[in-house]
Amino acid sequence: MRIAVAGLGHVGAAAVRLLQENRDILAARAGCDLDIVAVAARDKAKPRACDLSGIEWINAMSDMALRDDVDLVVEAVGGASGAAYDLVAAALRRGKHVVTANKALIAARGVELATLAERSGAQLSFEAAVCGAVPVLKMLREGLAANRITAVRGILNGTCNYILTRMENEGADFADALADAQRLGYAESDPSDDIDGIDTANKLAILTAVAFGRAPDLGSIFVEGIRAVTLQDLRDAAAKGGRIKLLGIAECVTRDDGTQNVIQRVQPVFVPISEPIAAVDGVFNAVEITGDFSGQTLIQGRGAGEPTASALVADIVDIARGNRSYAFGVPAQSLDET
Ligand code: HSE
Repeated sequence: MRIAVAGLGHVGAAAVRLLQENRDILAARAGCDLDIVAVAARDKAKPRACDLSGIEWINAMSDMALRDDVDLVVEAVGGASGAAYDLVAAALRRGKHVVTANKALIAARGVELATLAERSGAQLSFEAAVCGAVPVLKMLREGLAANRITAVRGILNGTCNYILTRMENEGADFADALADAQRLGYAESDPSDDIDGIDTANKLAILTAVAFGRAPDLGSIFVEGIRAVTLQDLRDAAAKGGRIKLLGIAECVTRDDGTQNVIQRVQPVFVPISEPIAAVDGVFNAVEITGDFSGQTLIQGRGAGEPTASALVADIVDIARGNRSYAFGVPAQSLDET
């Protein structure tokens, strides 16, 4: 499998390192070598947290999509449009597989891209776009595939959970905790996407699509971030036996006429300490999925930064093995409008 990696920030560089350091076990599990043949990023002069010796640097990122010696493109550039969209769309049109960590892109244009993938026979995979290293999309698409999902609820943003945890545990100042989240590679390039709940909404829209077969629709999500949460709010919550967590919530409700609708919202929520999700701290994410036969299942793990590379490379292994699936678990055109 000949791989090109676009974007060499915290996540892209970690994916390069992972592919190099775990080369042997990856080859055994994938059934073939996973070779990085080319990389690209915005600034060639910038120092990178990975060894690029022997790997070709491509100046025009979109050229990756045109090369005959590339089977799969890893997109770790970010952004819902521009270079990331151009590269992913061009690669899929030419039948190249794409693995991406880009939740903004998938939430905004995922149906269009999944349709391109289905037409060309390429695979589009984005486990890394939702909850970093946590394989929650795979769990929904595969392990829980037999269920009608009735609710999805989770901590979907590592930056916000890290800030709230630091404030609660140490009395840390909001701005200082955010600066540390940026330094650790958790935050988006514009961190207001994190703290205003937009990143959580992007991930919730993707989860909703896979869980309920609804096309991602950011406009239908009520979104409130954590800017207004104060230290006093956190102390008041603790005094009442709970914690405040920024949650993304999608619930299936039955209307008066018997039809069903999925209500989605992102907001800081009081979570009683008795609930497992209340104990999920720092950069960790957790998602609770309720299915009609499974009941509740909880999955948690590191939700941002370098561990995200684990999900990117797991998607590559799946593709190399020939484990193919519709990007959202069902054909793109069969996703319902919300
Ligand atoms: N900024 C995101 C977060 C990165 O903090 O969760 C992972 O998607």
